[in-house]
Amino acid sequence: MSQERSDTLVLFGATGDLAHKKIFPALYAMVAKGTLNEPVIGVAFDPWDLAKLQARARDGIVNALGSIDDKIFARLASLLRYVSGDYRAPATFEKLKTALGSVERPLHYLAVPPAMFEVVVQGLEQSGAAQGARLMVEKPFGHDLQSARWLNRVLHLVFDEKSIFRIDHYLGKEAIQNLLYFRFANSFLEPIWNRNYVESVQITMAEDFGVEGRGRFYDEVGCIRDVIENHLLNILLLLAMEPPVGRSADDLIDEKVQVLRAIRTLTRDDVVRGQFDGYLSEPGVAPNSPVETFAAVRFFVDTWRWQDVPFFIRAGKSLPVHATEVIVQLKRPPLDVFDPIKPGDCNHVRFRIDPQVAISIGARRKAPGDDMVGEQVELTALDDSKGDMPPYERLIGDAMNGNGQLFTRQDASELAWRIVGPVLGDTTPPPVYAPKTWGPAEAMAGFGPPNGWINPAK
Ligand code: BG6
Repeated sequence: MSQERSDTLVLFGATGDLAHKKIFPALYAMVAKGTLNEPVIGVAFDPWDLAKLQARARDGIVNALGSIDDKIFARLASLLRYVSGDYRAPATFEKLKTALGSVERPLHYLAVPPAMFEVVVQGLEQSGAAQGARLMVEKPFGHDLQSARWLNRVLHLVFDEKSIFRIDHYLGKEAIQNLLYFRFANSFLEPIWNRNYVESVQITMAEDFGVEGRGRFYDEVGCIRDVIENHLLNILLLLAMEPPVGRSADDLIDEKVQVLRAIRTLTRDDVVRGQFDGYLSEPGVAPNSPVETFAAVRFFVDTWRWQDVPFFIRAGKSLPVHATEVIVQLKRPPLDVFDPIKPGDCNHVRFRIDPQVAISIGARRKAPGDDMVGEQVELTALDDSKGDMPPYERLIGDAMNGNGQLFTRQDASELAWRIVGPVLGDTTPPPVYAPKTWGPAEAMAGFGPPNGWINPAK
């Protein structure tokens, strides 16, 4: 595979929801910045024509951005092509081959359910459209270790690992990149970033909405597969990894893989699950579904640096706020020289990932007044996120340029499933929690970081 930029983007699933909500707005932003000038061939089953696909793209862009610049959209529309047909029919791939013409290095983006990956990859190979191509695949990448291995085998029959780009859109977020940058572009963190100073780590991804019409999808997945096995575990890796020895994609991913190898496989005691009251009446959800919409999970990273430091991850739908946040809690000072410090009132580092981007250092200072009594303060660097590049824009651009740094490599995808494997598919009905609360209170009692959970503010 050459390192040259892909010369066409082929979008399978072009009429679908993801394309409408995320991919077309990303392509529009790329055209606006002049970073996309290549043809975009939409492929889907729907018997539409190009005009209908263009209208759909326009609608998605207006929904996402609130407005549209007609000149920019006209440029995007002129790059679009449409091939309709059944992915199982060789004729569809013949039409695609014709549309590709003299293109030499297409990027095929599979924004389709994983059940279709094999069929599409085979169609690409048989038609010759896989020649010189890259492949980008959407999540979920399998639903357990076995299916991830099987998917990897299917993809590798046609594409080599360097040509495969497995998406986890979280890795494309500015705040996640900043986490990595902040850790390894500053020297003050390194001496304390270990089991000698860190008491615990907690990562919370709270969403204040339910499953939003995605009941059928969500009910096959649940919270652990939907966001913990991928997005949040990836945050844990960035917090726990050693500095990469170079700037290549493999240098970075090798360090993440080292952490994955050291994470203990979960047991049921490491997990508390919950389901929000009302989930069972969502369209597409099975009656009496045992699927969790909330999970809190405890991980241990068995390395010299992290031995015995608990890493907690908590995520859920219908929680009180919409926010993703990391708290690295430091141990208390060895002695209370002044007033007694409450266990939770020690130093911490807070990474706010969503919706705003912020990094804060939690510290104690003397409260004004006669006595040597302290108060908790935070020094915060806040970013209003206005200049952020949305994840899909960054990731599509990277895949077109053959830069795999923000994608999941085969070994990482399989190791992540190995870790969560034993806690998947629990058929015990999870405890129910009231919407807009922090999960099932009774089940959560006593489960969490030593000094408790810190709930992100709105
Ligand atoms: C998706 C999950 O991968 O990530 C959704 O399927 C979740 O359930 C979403 O809501 C969160 O991503 P973001 O970028 O919207 O915070």
